[in-house]
Amino acid sequence: MKKDRITTITKAAEAIKTALLVYFAVEVKGKMPACDAAVQNQVKKAFELNDFFGKAAEQILFYPPDQSDISAARVLILGTGPVNKEKDEGAALDMLREAGGQIAKVCALVKAKDVVICLPAPKHLSPAMDDPEMSAGALAEGIILGDYRFEKYKESTKKKTDYPGLDAIKFVCKDNLNIVRRGVERAKNSAFAACRARDMANEPGNHWTSADFAAYAKQLAADMGLGYRCIEKKEMEQMGMGGILAVNQGSHVPARMVILEYLPEDRTETILLVGKGLTFDSGGISIKPSAGMEDMKYDMCGGAAVMCAMQAVALEKPDVGVVAIVPATDNMSGSKAVHPGDIIRHYNGVTSEVINTDAEGRLILADALAWGIENVKPTCVLDTATLTGAVIIGLGHHYTGLVSNNDALVKAVESAGNLAGEPVWRLPLNKNYEKQIESNVADIKNTGGKPAGTITAAAYLSNFVGKTPWAHLDIAGTAWDFTQKTYIPKGPSGTATRTFINLVRNWKTGNVK
Ligand code: BES
Ligand code: MN
Ligand code: ZN
Repeated sequence: MKKDRITTITKAAEAIKTALLVYFAVEVKGKMPACDAAVQNQVKKAFELNDFFGKAAEQILFYPPDQSDISAARVLILGTGPVNKEKDEGAALDMLREAGGQIAKVCALVKAKDVVICLPAPKHLSPAMDDPEMSAGALAEGIILGDYRFEKYKESTKKKTDYPGLDAIKFVCKDNLNIVRRGVERAKNSAFAACRARDMANEPGNHWTSADFAAYAKQLAADMGLGYRCIEKKEMEQMGMGGILAVNQGSHVPARMVILEYLPEDRTETILLVGKGLTFDSGGISIKPSAGMEDMKYDMCGGAAVMCAMQAVALEKPDVGVVAIVPATDNMSGSKAVHPGDIIRHYNGVTSEVINTDAEGRLILADALAWGIENVKPTCVLDTATLTGAVIIGLGHHYTGLVSNNDALVKAVESAGNLAGEPVWRLPLNKNYEKQIESNVADIKNTGGKPAGTITAAAYLSNFVGKTPWAHLDIAGTAWDFTQKTYIPKGPSGTATRTFINLVRNWKTGNVK
């Protein structure tokens, strides 16, 4: 779908010719759900038949007769649940995002090319959400994210009759037009960025290498007026980036460290984002079991998230500076591959014993963090990575793991994630965990044993951030196949992209020190 095909208008919804017109109905205890006058008859009938109460996810789909006032071919009425129940702003927004995803699903079912959404008054949605910008935005995000599909490589199996997705979305609002419009515009920026991150992740290892990260960033920078730099393998060698080089040793595709900069002249603070761009993780010599190894093409989801967040940053031009770094390579077992037991030296001089070549993410992030902090001199640094299987054991697929050295930054990340429907859960970090990665022969080692694998991975990274406020987001459990939401299809979720965009949007100078 093209961005300019998503519009906000004030025209009477009934008069619009469209494949699908959507209304909302609010659950009212013991009574008929509250809804637009245009669909009152249908809602009343369904309610009296005990078919529809306006509960969240309930729906009515009907076909208005020719003599009806409604010009649409089909009408969908969606339940929103009750008013005055939802206190949590993040939960209220996610309810709307889920409703958006449901709309996209119905569109696919009836192969609707366009959809018109009749927005309810925001106070009808939830008291926590009496904010037309945020609520319209969440709904729009849900539709765009729910309409996502990746069919680039479906050739002979793709039928002409297959549904290509929506071509146009119109939001109709009765009041607050400019505010709603701003919310929808923002939603477009964040949802398209997340869809782009999904596209990158869906690309297989043979079609998405470090070179593709670099080429994409270069083009994005040229199109959007961002700064671009790529540190090539030769420079890494000169600079002593022993971590990313070690991981890259077994591969025939040279590693790259890709940098995108948004640095407005009058900025006072700069946020540094670092994302693991491991384009395929075989485990290296400590090779992974073959069952499910194909999923390790997704090991670059952190890199995709930070790179695509920059797309929205470039559009929204915040006051705060933002720099994204993606250390990119695959992890292979070619004849030059790093061996278990090898000792490497990172960019900042810290030496490390590679116990397990499959704990490679921390090795490439270490150099990126140390180089980024030295060169960007950021106010704070956030990294995100599909770093540990252990985070799935700890939190399942419902929270991103968070480890940080700064409480104010934690608050900001928690809030940004919550508003994006991408909640984070903080895990502790202290000396006791740091002890687990002490090495007999080097400064540190790259594994800390079974206990608290997510925390010991973060403990490793903590050696490269110094005193800079830092937050580490382990997205191994949330980056893909998290299928419990209508707006997240099977495959990559694009998680962390919208969290970072929110973090930048809501950034308050001086808040994190
Ligand atoms: N990319 C993996 C982590 C991962 C595992 C992500 C499963 C998503 C699903 C990472 O590079 C890795 O292999 N981590 C090891 C670390 C261990 C060897 C200390 C892990 O978690 O098993
Ligand atoms: Mn690995
Ligand atoms: Zn990995």
